[in-house]
Amino acid sequence: MKAATTQGFGTNAVLIVQDTKRPPVGPDEVLVEVYASSVNPKDWKLNFNISAFMPKLGGLITPFIIGDDLAGIVVEKGSKVTGFELGDEVYGMNMRLRTTACAEYASIGQRFIAHKPKNITFKEAASVPLAAQTALQAFQIGGLNSGDKILIVGASGGVGTFAVQIAKAMGAHVTGVCSGRNTEMVTRLGADEVIDYTTQDYLNDSASNNKSFDMVLDATSYESLSSCSSLLKENGIYVTTAGNGTAHLNLIKDNLRYRKQKSKVVIVDSITQDLETLKGFIEQGLVKPVVDGEYSLENIHDAYLRSKTGRAAGKIVINIKESEEKKTESVTG
Ligand SMILES: NC(=O)c1ccc[n+]([C@@H]2O[C@H](COP(=O)([O-])OP(=O)(O)OC[C@H]3O[C@@H](n4cnc5c(N)ncnc54)[C@H](OP(=O)(O)O)[C@@H]3O)[C@@H](O)[C@H]2O)c1
Repeated sequence: MKAATTQGFGTNAVLIVQDTKRPPVGPDEVLVEVYASSVNPKDWKLNFNISAFMPKLGGLITPFIIGDDLAGIVVEKGSKVTGFELGDEVYGMNMRLRTTACAEYASIGQRFIAHKPKNITFKEAASVPLAAQTALQAFQIGGLNSGDKILIVGASGGVGTFAVQIAKAMGAHVTGVCSGRNTEMVTRLGADEVIDYTTQDYLNDSASNNKSFDMVLDATSYESLSSCSSLLKENGIYVTTAGNGTAHLNLIKDNLRYRKQKSKVVIVDSITQDLETLKGFIEQGLVKPVVDGEYSLENIHDAYLRSKTGRAAGKIVINIKESEEKKTESVTG
């Protein structure tokens, strides 16, 4: 099968498509014929670097196939798989050392997938798992409630575009922060208010700096509880998607400094129940994936270069099997 694999290390790393063996299928896993995948910043921040160590692991995971998100069709299942049948349309994500999605076939644990929402294409479905579960799980750990006021920093990115829509679906009042070129899109997604960070210093401006938010979701990694404290209510919660050492250090420091306000980091996991919640939102028309651009498997390196600009508006998707639109049309009638 064809798969996108990393070659080289760090800034010299490139993605190439090569022929490799289909992955084995464990008892709790299904083999998915992958129709589409998507790009996440994690791929170029972390996976390129992990790939450098793979030869040192004695070829345990070689070649290192890139990609977490997938949408496709179950073509084989392990002996302990109960919730899925051959021919089922599924979506989900493998992650950490098991990234394997940008390939014609991927094996994946049944607990990481759910049935694909019926009203979206495979490409749209592949854009959902990592980014939308990050937003949903941030709201779970932050305890977002209906009627809460939330500020979403990075509202136009992969995580942010889902976060705005999911927060609205959960009944929150949403203020999105993005640059001027994306304000119209974020408004269209349902944000009640939108701040253009290129023209408004919302962290220091007295109009927004009024302790009115129950929660700040920072999907840029640039802020901290300390920089957002004056925006939050007395018991407000700051949740960041930054999983690096600085973020964890800020979290410890800020949680000691601010006694009532809290700082938390979301580390996404793929959970069937969360994918089903998202499927529900999508099928009710409350959440719709925003696609920044589509790339073929052969042009995957260009997709990663686009992600590295930090300017993607929505998700970057990888089209792996061309006939997917026909398949979806036949499903949706
Ligand atoms: N911890 C986890 O489990 C987890 C999971 C997913 C993602 N992440 C991390 O979360 C971050 C966001 O991920 P993503 O997929 O959403 O990335 P992304 O799609 O690449 O984000 C791009 C967006 O960021 C916006 N942006 C850049 N600078 C900004 C600023 N100063 N203020 C507001 N918006 C700004 C850009 O908007 P403009 O062009 O309008 O500036 C663009 O729309 C990344 O650092 C990623 O590594 C962590």
